[in-house]
Amino acid sequence: MTIGIDKMGFFTSDYYLDMADLANARGEDPNKYLIGIGQKDQAVIPPTQDVVTMAANAAAKILSDDDKQAIDMVIFGTETGVDNSKSAAIYVQSLLGISNSARSFEIKQACYGGTAGVQMAFDHIAMHPESKVLVLAADIARYGIGTAGEVTQGGGAVAMLMSQDPQILALDNQSAFHSENIMDFWRPFYRRDAIVDGHYSTDIYIDFFNQTFKDYSAKYQRTLSDFSAVAFHLPFTKMGLKALRTVIDDGAHSQKLLKEFDHSKKYNALVGNLYTGSLYLSLLSLLANSKTLQPGDRIGLFSYGSGAQGEFYSGTIAPEIQPQSLAGQVEQVIANRTRLSVPEYEAMYANGLSNAGGDVTFDAADDDSRFVLLGRQADQLV
Ligand code: HMG
Repeated sequence: MTIGIDKMGFFTSDYYLDMADLANARGEDPNKYLIGIGQKDQAVIPPTQDVVTMAANAAAKILSDDDKQAIDMVIFGTETGVDNSKSAAIYVQSLLGISNSARSFEIKQACYGGTAGVQMAFDHIAMHPESKVLVLAADIARYGIGTAGEVTQGGGAVAMLMSQDPQILALDNQSAFHSENIMDFWRPFYRRDAIVDGHYSTDIYIDFFNQTFKDYSAKYQRTLSDFSAVAFHLPFTKMGLKALRTVIDDGAHSQKLLKEFDHSKKYNALVGNLYTGSLYLSLLSLLANSKTLQPGDRIGLFSYGSGAQGEFYSGTIAPEIQPQSLAGQVEQVIANRTRLSVPEYEAMYANGLSNAGGDVTFDAADDDSRFVLLGRQADQLV
């Protein structure tokens, strides 16, 4: 029996900001943002979306009625939760009509939460092979207007249905992880924007990648040549490239890995950081855009969550994979976005209801039959 990712869905905001516009407004050379950081556009999250609606919209794209009955666990990885008590998973379970005979809960360790969900789902399915698990990874990345981190904002959701005999990626059950108490990035309860020691965080990211890749290689006797591609958590796309450069050389296989990396960053460069979902959007981007990857090829995945937790693990591409269908789904969402001016973005940033806490009210459908957030009644029962 193989276990892994059977279906993947993606959703992000209808609005984006062009990074050249942002650079001009902030008095920076656009090439710093476009090349030095590696971001082209950034999702801007309106008051009508939060992590619950974005995750529900991502999952609605992939779940059949049979899936909804078979799911017995809903895991929501996020660091932009809407309530300190009630999990975002319960809201999504209810919005989508997923069976009530399920365990539904939220987990947190910065951007690592999506991977924690994937690994927990793997173990659950190994014990209960008929189970299907819905793993949701959704976040809104905010650093503040005019900050150095502003160019690395973004947001969105990836939904993954995990099962036996998966149709996208079969996990190897081979993994190395590392955690340490580090203050590189955090967001105390009273803040909507993250506190970050930017350059320190990039150094720690690379240290954790090197540590976990070394541990993985020693544990499973594998080298870089065993991988057809490596997908990274991409807080900004240059970050993954910096990490990859620490392990490659001038050889032909390294050049192939660099080419595949270009495919893996395409969607992230247009969306920005979506924290827990970032590695999985990069995986989608790789699988949808690579011209050379084949079923059976091994992919390495590096997950990093500030604070900090890192994990390097691997899987092989499933025989049934349909790259065009993955590409079509993501590109439709991205193509339908509206470009905002910098003043429009700043106004939306200031007005966002997202992450305000309290109960939420939903409209089950707007023009595109999507979930939208109508408002919150904090401190009231609705
Ligand atoms: P900065 O200090 O403004 O940028 O902030 P810089 O001066 O370091 O320049 C960036 C790059 O642009 C440099 O390239 C420059 O050379 C280049 P590098 O040396 O790094 O290769 N550059 C140019 N290139 C071309 N043409 C030009 C030009 N000018 C300069 N004209 C920083 C950058 C990333 C620190 C900032 O944006 C930040 O703080 N971001 C947020 C933190 C972050 O994303 N950290 C990533 C690692 S931590 C992580 O991944 C976890 C996270 O996702 C959170 C979680 O886990 O929940 C963040």
